[in-house]
Amino acid sequence: MRKPIMAGNWKMHKTIAESVDFVSKVKSNVSDVKDCEIVVCPVFTALKSVADAAKGTNVCIGAQNMHWEEKGAFTGEISPKMLLDAGCKYVIIGHSERRQYFGETNETVNKKMLSAFKHGLVPIVCIGETLAEREKNITFDVVGKQVKEGLAGLTGNQSSEVVIAYEPVWAIGTGKTASPAQAQEVHEFVRKTFTEMYGKDAAAKVRILYGGSVKPDNVSELMKQPDIDGGLVGGAALEVDSYTKLIKFQR
Ligand code: PGA
Repeated sequence: MRKPIMAGNWKMHKTIAESVDFVSKVKSNVSDVKDCEIVVCPVFTALKSVADAAKGTNVCIGAQNMHWEEKGAFTGEISPKMLLDAGCKYVIIGHSERRQYFGETNETVNKKMLSAFKHGLVPIVCIGETLAEREKNITFDVVGKQVKEGLAGLTGNQSSEVVIAYEPVWAIGTGKTASPAQAQEVHEFVRKTFTEMYGKDAAAKVRILYGGSVKPDNVSELMKQPDIDGGLVGGAALEVDSYTKLIKFQR
């Protein structure tokens, strides 16, 4: 059985004080939750304070991006070692906003993913097609390439530990969720592609999250799909009430 993950991607929102306040409230709301991994991904400046506030609880911390190098002359970047130092367990890699606005490619995604593992972080690798790609009927080509190139080169346990997030770009922040059937179709395809790369055992263990306008009122239907193992959530993870509801979705 794959343990679901409900990850909140806060994007460029919340000050340190707001982030700590949020986590302090959520951690008491969800202290009884054992059957779902809870991950919050604040901005870099709030990581350490949020990690301290969540210490000893079932709330884990993730970063939203990183550089693949450990240190060096890379002004404005942050390294996997620094994320670990701040208390992170997870790191989101290749979010579509990073691909769209900051030039990330399957190649940089791959470098970052391998570096995350090398330093002891668990990468959450994002994939997904744009609206134009879906309308051209090339969703499987695009997503297949993202999986084959972005997720190449995993060794040993890494191939069952990596987390994948399928986020159709047209569903992010738009209020347009993929229907559970549309999402399942791609999740199944991703797991099949992953099986070809790493074999049945790893593919049966790897967790594939869905992202794109996940809300308390659609989370349960999405989570009923056999290949959906959790959510990567933006907007609805910014409010304590809705994020709590997402974590406690109707099983
Ligand atoms: P959304 O964002 O839930 O606001 O659509 C999801 C994401 O970008 O990870």
